[in-house]
Amino acid sequence: MERANPRCIVVGAGGIAGAWFPPLLEEGVEVAAIVDLNSEAASARAREYGLDCLVTDDLDSALRSTAPDFAVDLTPPEAHADVTVACLHAGAHVIGEKPMAANLDQARRMVGASEQTGRLFMVSQSRRWDRKHDSIRRTLASGAIGKVGTVACDFFLGPHFGGFRDQMESPLILDMAIHHFDLVRFLTGADPEWVFCHEHNPAGSWYRGDAAAVCVFGMSDGSVFSYRGSWCAEGFPTSWNGDWRVVGSRGTLLYASDQEPRVQRVAREDDGFHRPLEEVELVPSSLEKTGMHGALAEMLRFLREGVRPQTECHDNIQSLAMVFAALESSKVDGPVRVRV
Ligand SMILES: NC(=O)c1ccc[n+]([C@@H]2O[C@H](COP(=O)([O-])OP(=O)(O)OC[C@H]3O[C@@H](n4cnc5c(N)ncnc54)[C@H](O)[C@@H]3O)[C@@H](O)[C@H]2O)c1
Repeated sequence: MERANPRCIVVGAGGIAGAWFPPLLEEGVEVAAIVDLNSEAASARAREYGLDCLVTDDLDSALRSTAPDFAVDLTPPEAHADVTVACLHAGAHVIGEKPMAANLDQARRMVGASEQTGRLFMVSQSRRWDRKHDSIRRTLASGAIGKVGTVACDFFLGPHFGGFRDQMESPLILDMAIHHFDLVRFLTGADPEWVFCHEHNPAGSWYRGDAAAVCVFGMSDGSVFSYRGSWCAEGFPTSWNGDWRVVGSRGTLLYASDQEPRVQRVAREDDGFHRPLEEVELVPSSLEKTGMHGALAEMLRFLREGVRPQTECHDNIQSLAMVFAALESSKVDGPVRVRV
């Protein structure tokens, strides 16, 4: 990196851009351009953050005139592939919002462009940069509950979005479950091998497509991950992160309602009907930056030191593959392999 401060362009100035500008500015990143098909949205963000930068709806000319070190792709999923591939071919590294793409073919094209150009492409999965989640990951890796065999996540909420999600075919799996599917990979370090998924649209649903699903994933460490989710569940909502139970050979980790996670494990291996249990502390997180700032910090570290971000595209495509394998399983009404 030649410049003292890295230079970026931001593509897409909609809702989520409000979570990206503060960390970009705090880190001293030079925002050289804001690109949006809706120029007014781009101008509004420039005004909001007092940025005297190029504001345009023309991505190619912005890339040519600013030669950024990296691009931040905050466009909707359908635009991710075209935007990211254009940026990579212009010589910029890319950090893009989740989900990586609207389908696996597009995602493969993006991974191919990263390989061809030798530029980094990473995806921001903001829930990875969360101190509770980081602490759970460290605790499981420490062997605190022994070998993990069973992971369960329940996600039940009743949001009335009233927009495109109400019309989607598979709103829960396509738009939300990517967070939980990526999280199970992050927490356990295991990758998906197969899935059996049943999607449905429960009575009283206000969505056109299937807003609920039950999935079972077989993971590479031999563990089984079960996921029950609904976006049309009124009453006793879970958190957006979901309620988690991880069962290992020596104990259980419980994480619900975004409360501090807890670990209970066997205290003594004697012959009691139920073994005596003890609560143990979790391994603390040392995460400095959270959410989008955490993702950005990994891009900046890559620029400075060449350290590969955890959600580099070759890794992250596996989380996306869980989504599309689940949809396929539901369609064929049977288990399918998870392939990238
Ligand atoms: N990590 C999270 O928790 C989280 C939360 C919300 C959204 N997101 C993700 O962020 C992305 C954007 O979501 P949003 O809510 O900001 O959407 P949005 O619709 O509010 O904004 C998207 C913007 O991109 C612009 N745009 C569309 N196509 C473009 C193109 N080809 N070139 C340039 N600009 C283009 C639109 O005009 C719009 O201003 C999505 O992938 C979404 O899934 C992530």
